[in-house]
Amino acid sequence: MEDQAEKLREIMKNQQGGPSSEGSDIPSSGSGAKGKTKIIAVASGKGGVGKTNISINLAIAYARMGKKVIVLDADLGLANVNVILGVIPKYNLYHVIRKQKSMEDIILDTEYGIQIVAGASGFSRIANLTEEERKGFITEMKALGHADIIIIDTSAGVGQNVLDFVEAADEAIIVTTPEPTAITDAYGIIKIISTEIEDFDMGLKLIVNRVSSVVEAKKVSQRVINITSQFLNIKVDYLGFVFDDPGVSLAVKKQQPFSIADPRGKAASCIQTMVNRLEKVDPREGGGMGRFVRKLFGSAPE
Ligand SMILES: Nc1ncnc2c1ncn2[C@@H]1O[C@H](COP(=O)(O)OP(=O)(O)OP(=O)(O)O)[C@@H](O)[C@H]1O
Ligand SMILES: [Mg+2]
Repeated sequence: MEDQAEKLREIMKNQQGGPSSEGSDIPSSGSGAKGKTKIIAVASGKGGVGKTNISINLAIAYARMGKKVIVLDADLGLANVNVILGVIPKYNLYHVIRKQKSMEDIILDTEYGIQIVAGASGFSRIANLTEEERKGFITEMKALGHADIIIIDTSAGVGQNVLDFVEAADEAIIVTTPEPTAITDAYGIIKIISTEIEDFDMGLKLIVNRVSSVVEAKKVSQRVINITSQFLNIKVDYLGFVFDDPGVSLAVKKQQPFSIADPRGKAASCIQTMVNRLEKVDPREGGGMGRFVRKLFGSAPE
């Protein structure tokens, strides 16, 4: 437990949001409209493989199904999510932790039917959070409980914050491209997840982005699945692929999500297929906001 608290501190150092729960303050197991909040972390070994684009467009696809979705931009450094959505958050989690703003104040609506929460930069001071601040922050996390889905766009690589988010989430999606360096790094992050996360029992899901064909996607996913099962004894599920699509880069330049800029494009239809698959995944037992907060903050009751 103590080392979880330690982890949390590390996490916060790198920004992001975590929930938490302290006794009755816990944002209970999600209180999304129709039940639990499902938390999905999107991670990758190599940078620039498409995490942010995939996170936002998955979120939009869920929103189109009538879900309430929040994208948590945990990649504070480059603040990707805002850039792609063309919005500039004035406040972020740092202000919540410092009690300058409430969580409600910093949740941003977008014109695409999804909400975003900006992580915080300069989070090194989080390590110095007082118990009171920590409790206050945990309470604020409740404000995220109205969501059906929270998608966490993490930074590339295996920083402790990424590991903490992956551990706390109900589902973790690893993104790679067909490039050998990206595949190697995907293997690397899966290896670290499998060795660093205690009680690792989560099914990891794989998305192969920027493929030129379905066959290429299958080949890449088979490679990752084979090496992880052979060398790590870990099961990775193939969630799907996204075609390499010039429309993605054009959309990014317009600061629009590609599924809005080009809804019938090749990339957008791949996203829809994956959301349909994700919808069929049973909710994780004991998952949701309560668990998320407990895992991040290393404390708290059921
Ligand atoms: N399916 C795709 N087809 C074509 N280009 C793509 C595709 N996905 C991503 N890209 C290109 O890759 C760039 C990086 O994507 P994105 O910012 O989503 O990656 P990331 O993994 O979030 O990066 P970082 O690690 O820096 O956070 C995009 O701006 C776009 O130009
Ligand atoms: Mg990104």
